[in-house]
Amino acid sequence: MLTQLTTDAVVVRAPAKVNLFLELHGKRTDGYHELATLMVAVSLYDTLELRDEPSGRIALTCDDPALSAGPENLVHRAAELLRKRTGSQRGARIGLNKRIPQAAGLAGGSSDAAAALDGLNRLWQLGLSRRELAALGAELGSDVAFFFATPAAWCTGRGEIVTAWPMGRPLHLLLVCPDAGLSTADVYRHATVPSAPESGEEIRRAVARGDWKEVGLRLHNRLQPPAEKLCPEVAALHARLRALRPTGQAMSGSGTALFAVCRDRRDALRLARRFRSSTGKQERERLASTGSGVRLFLVRSCD
Ligand code: C5P
Repeated sequence: MLTQLTTDAVVVRAPAKVNLFLELHGKRTDGYHELATLMVAVSLYDTLELRDEPSGRIALTCDDPALSAGPENLVHRAAELLRKRTGSQRGARIGLNKRIPQAAGLAGGSSDAAAALDGLNRLWQLGLSRRELAALGAELGSDVAFFFATPAAWCTGRGEIVTAWPMGRPLHLLLVCPDAGLSTADVYRHATVPSAPESGEEIRRAVARGDWKEVGLRLHNRLQPPAEKLCPEVAALHARLRALRPTGQAMSGSGTALFAVCRDRRDALRLARRFRSSTGKQERERLASTGSGVRLFLVRSCD
């Protein structure tokens, strides 16, 4: 998260994340899954602008009409939770500029919540530590605490036990985001917990070395098979991406976004061009008639 202070506002950039590795270790009695995942924050951002609101209200506006700006929005819930726990009565006007695709496994909503906690902590001068903010974040969603440990972290428990992880070099990725989204809860409901889970040790070591070739070979996401069953477009796009032989490719989180590991930005750009020209005639006609499509983003790991 990058926070800037202007004369009357706090502006926070909320990055997306991808999962280079995600394994399930069990189903818990509270309905969540015990997991182990390696997450990396990437340079695709939502932006939050936070201003003081003398009336004491929390007023959220969002430039994406598809997203509710009501009390159920995680940004709203983050603000209410922060007030409740600190006893603060301050209000805020929050403008949310959405760029991260939703229901895509990129944790846009969780990142927005983390950015709201961080930004309001500054705006209201509450003095909470990052550790305290992360603990509050974990109450809002399994992925929120990660955003206080960027750029990379090994996350366990239901995702909220976060250990920062070193990255040897910046990582360049091509993100491939279909129009369709998936509900995280749905994907987990259809997932199978393996009897012999993968440890993720090799990929963690490769990330620490910045050995992206090795990382590409060891990408793993236990949620990909159920996501592909629920959304066949994920399987189709994965096959299309794999046919172009990038360094490696996988789905992020609970989907539907996919990513390809690239050697550098030029490699990512080349891959994006080849991906576009690999669209078949039938697919082009379908896209032209439905107006829907696949969005591509060239990103790199955050600093
Ligand atoms: O924590 P969050 O609200 O992001 O999770 C959304 C849903 O995903 C949960 O309600 C649960 O069904 C599922 N989930 C899970 N195990 C996790 C994280 C999420 O089963 N570790």
